[in-house]
Amino acid sequence: MRLDGRVAIVAGAGSGIGAAIAQRLAAAGAQVIAADIDRKAVEALAAKVAGVAAQTCDVTESAAVEALIDGAVQRFGRLDVMVNNVGSADAGWLKDATDESYQRVLALTLSSAFYGTRAALRVMLPRGSGSIINISSGAGFGGAPGLATYGAAKAGVNNLTLSAAVENARSGVRVNAISPGAIRTPAILAWAASLPGGVPAYEATLLPGRFGRPEEIAAAALFLASDEASFVNGAVIPVDGAACSRVAAIDIPKH
Ligand SMILES: NC(=O)c1ccc[n+]([C@@H]2O[C@H](COP(=O)([O-])OP(=O)(O)OC[C@H]3O[C@@H](n4cnc5c(N)ncnc54)[C@H](O)[C@@H]3O)[C@@H](O)[C@H]2O)c1
Repeated sequence: MRLDGRVAIVAGAGSGIGAAIAQRLAAAGAQVIAADIDRKAVEALAAKVAGVAAQTCDVTESAAVEALIDGAVQRFGRLDVMVNNVGSADAGWLKDATDESYQRVLALTLSSAFYGTRAALRVMLPRGSGSIINISSGAGFGGAPGLATYGAAKAGVNNLTLSAAVENARSGVRVNAISPGAIRTPAILAWAASLPGGVPAYEATLLPGRFGRPEEIAAAALFLASDEASFVNGAVIPVDGAACSRVAAIDIPKH
């Protein structure tokens, strides 16, 4: 799958899944704008990976996301792929959640995807082509104990994706999401380290028996970005080792 001549923005490219997606799209020939609030992280990525340019952006700011996309079009002449990857959880029970935590999680997780999807549509629709990819989570599909605000925000990302795809189904612009399972990134490792038994104990509870790798999410993103996915629109694709397919009440038979 090649993306030669295409221009892609990856928001939240400074770490984890976003960094892997930026690298994979660049390896496929795209010019990638790696956007992140962490300037040093994206500058380090750009210095390391050919075809990656660094851009500082706070995706919780509507105007900043508009400027990010306008800047990409001015500099590179077009925008073909927009990856809205920023999201963050605050772990804790819903009854204890503060307004500040709720607003923070919503801004980082749902508003960022809203701003990025809307701004990308505005430049892609007149050209009649483009691929918008939102990074969701299994937490958006069901009850997420300890992650209620995050789960609610990711459920919002799922519906934003579906609604944007349906509204523009005849436009040539596709809007899809990827729902990762537990992926080995700094964010989840820090959280798992705080649990009883730490990272190994948490990893042992995962249905596939291991974390996913950021590269496994990047492979799905490359597919959605490419023309190979030309009839894939309005999909929320789990890349989670079956984690979200499980009916919890039924135990796994031993083989
Ligand atoms: N890691 C997992 O297990 C997992 C599972 C399901 C879904 N996800 C989702 O995947 C996405 C990426 O997760 P990750 O684990 O790679 O995270 P990460 O923490 O490794 O990376 C997130 C990046 O976003 C950047 N960022 C934070 N706030 C920002 C802002 N306001 N503006 C711009 N950039 C900002 C950070 O600097 C960082 O580089 C998130 O949406 C997350 O919810 C992750």
